[in-house]
Amino acid sequence: MRQIIAEKPAARQSSFVTLAILISGHTSRSMGLQSFGTDLNVAVFGAGGGIGGAFVQALRADPAVAQLHAISRNGEAGGGTHTYACDPLDNDALAATMATITADTPLHLAITTIGILHGEGIAPEKTWRHIEADAMRRIYEVNTIAPTLIARHVLPALAKGRKTAHAVLGARVGSIGDNRLGGWVSYRASKAALAMVIRTLSIELARTNPHALFIGLHPGTVDTALSQPFQQGVAQGKLSTPDHAVHQMLNTIDTRSTTDNGNVFACNETKIPH
Ligand SMILES: NC(=O)c1ccc[n+]([C@@H]2O[C@H](COP(=O)([O-])OP(=O)(O)OC[C@H]3O[C@@H](n4cnc5c(N)ncnc54)[C@H](OP(=O)(O)O)[C@@H]3O)[C@@H](O)[C@H]2O)c1
Repeated sequence: MRQIIAEKPAARQSSFVTLAILISGHTSRSMGLQSFGTDLNVAVFGAGGGIGGAFVQALRADPAVAQLHAISRNGEAGGGTHTYACDPLDNDALAATMATITADTPLHLAITTIGILHGEGIAPEKTWRHIEADAMRRIYEVNTIAPTLIARHVLPALAKGRKTAHAVLGARVGSIGDNRLGGWVSYRASKAALAMVIRTLSIELARTNPHALFIGLHPGTVDTALSQPFQQGVAQGKLSTPDHAVHQMLNTIDTRSTTDNGNVFACNETKIPH
């Protein structure tokens, strides 16, 4: 049986401290975000996904978070203080959703977890013979254009004069420098393009809001619907639960500073080359 990594103490001490309390089969809880201050207004885009849902659960338990907004296409992602139905490819819907989320207070943290690897008519290409324009277009729409549109609305809404962050889920396979295996051309290219979007918009963000961060995160290989068809190929001990991955990613967000702007980070906090 495949071993799935669940919660374990962080590799090095950091502000997102693990208490490892055993509650109802869940192996850990956390004292939560330490570096953002308190009374946080937080949004999770893609809250209906495996990792997005785990972010909502973790942030809901975080005492620093005052308002939690869970945004998904069908609006049924449970657990957030507020839930919204919003198509991330609809600019007007995003504008309306963001206006509601920031009606009383600006945003302090936003996380975007949207992404596809496979689906109807879409499968990661093993060779150039498998490349199809429609599938590639769809992957670009969801993996690159949707997070970019979200960033268009999130970045100007981040509070000023204090640490704030927008973190977007990328993927290590989107690293051009790290690509030694080939394959999966559309997914890789869409995530590489996303990394460029993050870098480009982080430069504009630094000019307009010097305390704000825009970074990418690689969650590792996580046991969700996205990775499900490919889990047989994952090395023993390399498949994480969504809770474990989210714990590590929140830790990474918490320990980043503005010198990290525009980069993509792995769960162990190392920078992934572009
Ligand atoms: N799982 C892994 O091993 C792994 C590894 C590396 C990177 N990642 C990245 O982590 C992120 C989260 O993935 P996951 O593992 O949580 O996958 P998941 O459970 O399949 O969730 C997919 C997410 O993408 C959104 N989505 C799917 N199809 C969409 C569409 N047609 N239009 C708009 N949004 C769509 C969903 O939004 P709704 O909330 O609206 O349903 C959901 O939030 C992705 O960006 C993925 O590339 C995952």
